[in-house]
Amino acid sequence: MADDFGAVTPLSESVLWRLNRAWFEREGPAAWSTGTVPSMITTNAVMGLSYARVVVEFLRRWAETSTAEERRQPVHIVELGAGSGRFAYNFVRKLEPRLRAVPALRDLRVTYVMTDFARSTIDGWRRHERLAPLVVEGRLDFAAFDGAWPAPLRLVQSGTDLDPAAPAPGPLIVLANYVIDGLPLDSFVHEGGVFGEHVVRVVTPYGMKDISSLDDIRLSWGRRAVAAGRYEDPELERLLRSLAGGRGDRTILLPVAFLRTLRYLRSLATGPLLFLTADKGWSRTPIGPQGEGPGMATHGSVSFMVDYSVIATYVRQQGGVAFVPPHQPASLATAAFVLGGQTAAWSELGQLFTDVVVDGGPDDWFQLKEMLDGEQGVPTLAQLMARLRAAQWDSWVFLDLFRAFMIRTIFVTEDERLDVRLALRNVEELYFPIGEHADVPFCVAAVLWRIGDPAAALRLLAWSERLHGPDGERSTLAALCHRERGDLAAARHATTLAIKYEPDLELPYQLVNQLELDATGAGVRADGDDAWSAALWVSTRAPGRPCFQRMPDA
Ligand SMILES: C[S@@+](CC[C@H](N)C(=O)[O-])C[C@H]1O[C@@H](n2cnc3c(N)ncnc32)[C@H](O)[C@@H]1O
Repeated sequence: MADDFGAVTPLSESVLWRLNRAWFEREGPAAWSTGTVPSMITTNAVMGLSYARVVVEFLRRWAETSTAEERRQPVHIVELGAGSGRFAYNFVRKLEPRLRAVPALRDLRVTYVMTDFARSTIDGWRRHERLAPLVVEGRLDFAAFDGAWPAPLRLVQSGTDLDPAAPAPGPLIVLANYVIDGLPLDSFVHEGGVFGEHVVRVVTPYGMKDISSLDDIRLSWGRRAVAAGRYEDPELERLLRSLAGGRGDRTILLPVAFLRTLRYLRSLATGPLLFLTADKGWSRTPIGPQGEGPGMATHGSVSFMVDYSVIATYVRQQGGVAFVPPHQPASLATAAFVLGGQTAAWSELGQLFTDVVVDGGPDDWFQLKEMLDGEQGVPTLAQLMARLRAAQWDSWVFLDLFRAFMIRTIFVTEDERLDVRLALRNVEELYFPIGEHADVPFCVAAVLWRIGDPAAALRLLAWSERLHGPDGERSTLAALCHRERGDLAAARHATTLAIKYEPDLELPYQLVNQLELDATGAGVRADGDDAWSAALWVSTRAPGRPCFQRMPDA
């Protein structure tokens, strides 16, 4: 008979977390060496470099306003849930030369502190040949730390305590990759104007004794009303109330354990706290229909998505600054939070975070790696976007990717649509015409039309005409845009122009017929098949590369 753990609880109080903890403690370093827990995306050298650059900028800014005495004190960089240790090694290797290159930071005594709650994992690090020399040099230390139940850290090698009772003078840097997603959270739901909370029961279909991995458990979800004063903690209550408003059905994941820990970490040092993190997560709360409960991923251990926009709201409510990507990352969301110091002081840090972590950073690098590793077909939309971001929205690169964009934007989610629009706006803004044949505004317009933004497409077509003069293909695309906006008269006028400029184009004639059907209401409104598929013929506008299909030779 199926065991169930009986109790129906809020998600953060579920027995699930006890099972998760037991799994990590049992597995130790084998969790990564066997590949059970994915780690490549968070522990590679690019990740190490991106974080190292952000940390150097943070320290550089802090050093500008600190005293010589403060700079003589040790600075700790604490990694939570350091797992295999590979990220720590990559990061320290990348950090060292970059610190030495900045005169104000050259003599700083920086110690990297690897932490985890699993003793077996910490024991594994202490035996590792690569880490040992760093320990001897005093650049690396270890400590047990539970991200859900924070308590003072006792550093194994130096015996130093990081303790709120005696906060360290100076800044503190904390890094956490793939950690927050495995810490207790609560889940709230907005649906049909009703705000409720998910409650959960853990079910083991084959009985408790036979659980060998968390793959063997199921969650049974329910909902309950949210009582006033759901949290005794006034800061969490304030956050929950601020998230309870707003429009649109959505699930709100509140990482309660992490938020309490963040506050604890803040109290460990007197200077500013930089918290850098990456996870399976969202940079904005997804709007849309709800399932039974939030999705749980199982990979030996279990995890949930991290909503960085929720954490950003909390950090700002605490007077801190939050840097979260403006787009939805495809595989790995990253964020940086600073608590303490003057808010204005961190604007350069925010720009650097954008330049090295958001655009062309670890997530984009991973998409491009997948693209090169995979079959050489049409890249996915995520890969195209990564390539464009990594190229800083350069118009040459956009032209190279244009046809693939036209194919990959036939069906887009609302989130993808928002991100493609943002990308096109960046391409448009950066484009510098030099009188070349290639018609960047036309290509931007074609993708805009494709994703259902005909008004913006028409604006770009006007620019294209100013640069390149009138022609039939542009008028054809304009006709498609007018038609999509429901302006049949303008669409007819544009088809007439298209036929006048290029009588051998096929699509304008089809459009004339379609527009007649649209006007009488007799035909299917072809905002589907015919217009979409016709546009597949669009290719880069350059000499000898026509956009739309010509009439077949007689
Ligand atoms: C998914 S692994 C990520 C490891 C590593 N950061 C990476 O990116 O590969 C999660 C890590 O967090 C640790 N962990 C899980 N829950 C924790 C908790 N409550 N406190 C501290 N560490 C925890 C696990 O032992 C494991 O090392």
